[in-house]
Amino acid sequence: MSIPREIAEEAASLRKTISYHNYRYHALDETEITDGEFDRLFQRLKSLEADYPELVTDDSPTQRVGAAPLASFSQVQHELPMLSLDNAFSKEDLIDFERRINSRLGSAQTITFTCEPKIDGVAVSLMYEDGKLVRAATRGDGTTGEDITQNVRTIESVPLRLQGDDLPRRLEVRGEIYIARSTFERINQQAQAAGEKIFANPRNAAAGSIRQLDPRLTAKRKLTMFCYSVGLVEGGNMATTQYEILAQLRQWGLRVNPLVRTVEGAEAGYSFYEDILSQRQDLDYEIDGVVFKVNSIDLQQALGMLTRTPRWAIAFKFPAEQALTRLLDVEFQVGRTGAVTPVARLEPVRVGGVTISNATLHNMDEIARLGLKIGDTVLVQRAGDVIPKVVSVDHASRPEDARDIILPATCPACGSEVVLLEGEVIARCSGGLICSAQRKESIRHFASRLAMDIEGLGDKLVEQLVDEGLITSPADLYQLTEAQLVGLERMAPKSANNLLAALDKSKTTTLPRFIYALGIQEVGESTARNLALHFADIHALEQAGPEELQAVPDIGPIVAGKIVAFFHQEDNRKVIESLLATGISWPSIETSVASATLAGEVWVLTGTLTQLTRNEAKARLQALGAKVAGSVSKNTTCVVAGDAAGSKLTKAQELGVKVLSEEELLVMLQSHGQGNS
Ligand code: IVH
Repeated sequence: MSIPREIAEEAASLRKTISYHNYRYHALDETEITDGEFDRLFQRLKSLEADYPELVTDDSPTQRVGAAPLASFSQVQHELPMLSLDNAFSKEDLIDFERRINSRLGSAQTITFTCEPKIDGVAVSLMYEDGKLVRAATRGDGTTGEDITQNVRTIESVPLRLQGDDLPRRLEVRGEIYIARSTFERINQQAQAAGEKIFANPRNAAAGSIRQLDPRLTAKRKLTMFCYSVGLVEGGNMATTQYEILAQLRQWGLRVNPLVRTVEGAEAGYSFYEDILSQRQDLDYEIDGVVFKVNSIDLQQALGMLTRTPRWAIAFKFPAEQALTRLLDVEFQVGRTGAVTPVARLEPVRVGGVTISNATLHNMDEIARLGLKIGDTVLVQRAGDVIPKVVSVDHASRPEDARDIILPATCPACGSEVVLLEGEVIARCSGGLICSAQRKESIRHFASRLAMDIEGLGDKLVEQLVDEGLITSPADLYQLTEAQLVGLERMAPKSANNLLAALDKSKTTTLPRFIYALGIQEVGESTARNLALHFADIHALEQAGPEELQAVPDIGPIVAGKIVAFFHQEDNRKVIESLLATGISWPSIETSVASATLAGEVWVLTGTLTQLTRNEAKARLQALGAKVAGSVSKNTTCVVAGDAAGSKLTKAQELGVKVLSEEELLVMLQSHGQGNS
């Protein structure tokens, strides 16, 4: 079938337009059209090519993905070797580099350098012939690499055809392929969700992706590339400085790092280095230093090269943020809230300029994910101010006596059972009331306003009482004497007596408050009320199994598990008994419900409440004997209308049912002893 001329012309023009916008998007980061407009152009070209398959050229933007998977990569001989770089680690090294250049040239000039961020990715070579990408290869050993053309074609920032008419007949472009940090995060999240292996860092992810035998997999990884030099050039001219060569490459459609600058001399070079180092964390790609290149190509040629490295360039490396060391042991620490966290004890190692000997391991899932054992060689990372972490494990060098890391059965601080519930990653100590690590927190909570409401017992005082060894559990509070208290800092006899009076007053409480005061994980004020209403008795609650607990409104398996674990702990039960022995008491729930003024009433809550949650309001009304229903009928006693109340309010008004605002509800609750204080 012959192709109508206007169709062929439209396809050619679309190809050009698409390549141009691709270039603007990927190389310049300055778009002229929207994604939608771009997609329309692309779809139009695809449909023309589908109608007229003879139109398809292999540099058409539609032909990036589609090559069949390979059985293996073939080898490529580099026509010019791909060199590596000598390293500098200090300002002196950089000054020395400039001095060596001058002594080699027999001059004493200030050298102009091109400075480029050193991208931490995979070095590749792209060969363009008559502007068309004909081959892409890895660096390999510098002489022989692997043919990765099909994979590189999937990278949108690599032009399949260069733009411009001053192109050399053959041009080899070199650069670094990498994965943006943001893309890396996404890939790892997806891999984790799919239960697949995750990559330790963006460079490993880029290296793994570029060596996929199936180009469709490479395409999914969204690789990108910065070009930084030319290799072979035949049949054409390049500019005479490195900086202008980069500008030429950019003009031809290749992506070049926007942070590249020229500087005069090593001193100015060092300032540039410091500047890039300070930006490092904000860049969306990983860099491990700054590359300094003599800008003049003539001078480069005069300087020449050693076996594997040029004399005209150097890589000024950032202090390593990662280092290898050995995992000596794992200790478990208990936090203020009872979380039991594994901490790696490491053979001390220098990372990013400081010595580290500990790293966080987060939780047992993380240990399993890393496949970590004690004795392993580990890669540790310290970036910015964050706590050092273990990034990966060198399984190959595992010693024979490597030991498994086992979550302790009991809390290292108090000996209570450590609980790791199904579906949760954080293990927790169940010794809420007696654990020394949690002591201050649990006593502070016990005394707080919504719990036992012990006036005058603030955080500072709790801290002092614990630090002085006067109390170890909430029950000890009620044994305090005036003599003990006045011995404390800033405690006059008057305040000591006030505190003792407040403690005494707090003994008359309610069951919901008492349950809440115990500080059982996941048991907030509203859950405590529900538990009190259901069990009406602290000992009945202590004995309850998970099924019975789950019969209580809003309690699921996780919360039920926490409650069971708490009461399973004998020491917690002992503290409760001691508390009761001090005379703490509450009116029985039956009595309070029967005598409550709302017994027999039906209440409905609607709209958004701002000072209470729905659950809290419901629990408090129930505590006063009311039933709380979901819909309004003629049997409804009262409707509480919060913000934006809708049809239920209308219905209440139609039926003449009494309506209260949230404010009025609060006043009513307050007057019946169900207020906030
Ligand atoms: S120039 C002779 N420039 O660093 C010039 N390399 O050991 C050789 N790299 O293998 C490379 N960013 O993969 C150069 N702007 C940059 C670079 C860069 C990253 C990599 C490259 C090379 C290694 C140096």
